[in-house]
Amino acid sequence: MNILQIVSGGIAVYKAVELTRELVKSGNDVKVIMTENAKKFVTELTFQTISKNTVYVDIFMEEDKSQIQHIDLVKWADKIIIAPATANIIAKAANGISDDLASTLLLAVKDFSKIYIAPAMNTVMYENPITQSNMNRLRKLGMNFIESEIGLLACGDLGKGKLADTETILKNIYNKKTLLNKNILVTAGPTLEYIDPVRYLSNPSTGKMGIAIAEESAKRGANVILVTSAKYKPKYNNINIISVVSTEDMFEVVKNNYENSDVVIKSAAVSDYKPVVKYDEKMKKKDENVSIELERTQDILLYLGQNKDKQILVGFAAETNNVIEYAQDKIKKKNLDLIVANDVSKADIGFASDENEVYIIDKKNNINKIDKESKKEIGRKILDEIENLLNK
Ligand SMILES: Cc1cc2nc3c(=O)[nH]c(=O)nc-3n(C[C@H](O)[C@H](O)[C@H](O)COP(=O)(O)O)c2cc1C
Repeated sequence: MNILQIVSGGIAVYKAVELTRELVKSGNDVKVIMTENAKKFVTELTFQTISKNTVYVDIFMEEDKSQIQHIDLVKWADKIIIAPATANIIAKAANGISDDLASTLLLAVKDFSKIYIAPAMNTVMYENPITQSNMNRLRKLGMNFIESEIGLLACGDLGKGKLADTETILKNIYNKKTLLNKNILVTAGPTLEYIDPVRYLSNPSTGKMGIAIAEESAKRGANVILVTSAKYKPKYNNINIISVVSTEDMFEVVKNNYENSDVVIKSAAVSDYKPVVKYDEKMKKKDENVSIELERTQDILLYLGQNKDKQILVGFAAETNNVIEYAQDKIKKKNLDLIVANDVSKADIGFASDENEVYIIDKKNNINKIDKESKKEIGRKILDEIENLLNK
């Protein structure tokens, strides 16, 4: 494969040398483009020696008189990898700025799906809404992102922004099934607690978020069990649907499949209460008021947290106020690895909508805010975070 590696000026440039080496070692022809600022961290000579090719920096250095360098390099490349990608080059790409070879070349790419971006920067720069919106813009155009990891950064801060490791970058470039042989159990949608044969207690959840997660897991090669009351015809052979109605049904299925699961994602909006008595026949209408006594259903997430072995356990918190505080409390109480929290009081996101706005919070209290996005895209980001945990 012909690979163009764009190296921009961040401290992680030294790690990009290893990436070049691995790409060459596995038989690719690699040409490196460096920004002027990248040269301040590592010399061209290093990349030239490792790639065994000329390193390109200057847009006006037209080596071959018969070609226009930035156009021909794009035509030559099967894949373009920006690693490390600075906040600056991401911003330039998102806004069509083309003031050096690397950024001009990116503007000359027609097929965005051949671009892979591995960001690396300080956490504040990474979480800055400007950087986030630039990244989202490029994602929406179809460019691939290789998520930064959480870790100790060169600046001494602990947080998100570390360049993904070489193995993860390679897996992404080769479109390897990153979750092959992983067993992932996802719960989705509401549960229904019947009062009599025609009436039940439930909530407006549709299961769209959980289904998006199940589909993304399947795309990445996992063996997926989707436990749901929602009506859904799987698009992938590796999704096995187990239909349930009540919280008790869901508990039985999840419990029986827990030991074999590597990851459990509990996105279902289960009913916390059920009627003490379920009538076999339809309750007759009466003139006076009636009361229905309710009892607590099984707390599935608590059971999973208490019986956790090697599994990665991901919970959801749907709240109408103090979303982050409740979620932080829940992650501890239920012994979770990640929690995805959202505000269901907002009409345009959450239940039944195609979009959502969530916080992904981990055990160490790192908070990743995902601004309003399609549930599919949020599913991708949740799985990127899960993959980071699996690779630790
Ligand atoms: C020591 C040092 C380390 C830096 N590390 C990063 C980094 O990891 N990520 C980043 O986005 N910018 C980093 N910067 C800032 C960029 O170098 C700066 O924004 C520059 O304009 C990027 O240019 P380029 O994108 O054209 O390479 C760093 C700067 C210095 C001085």
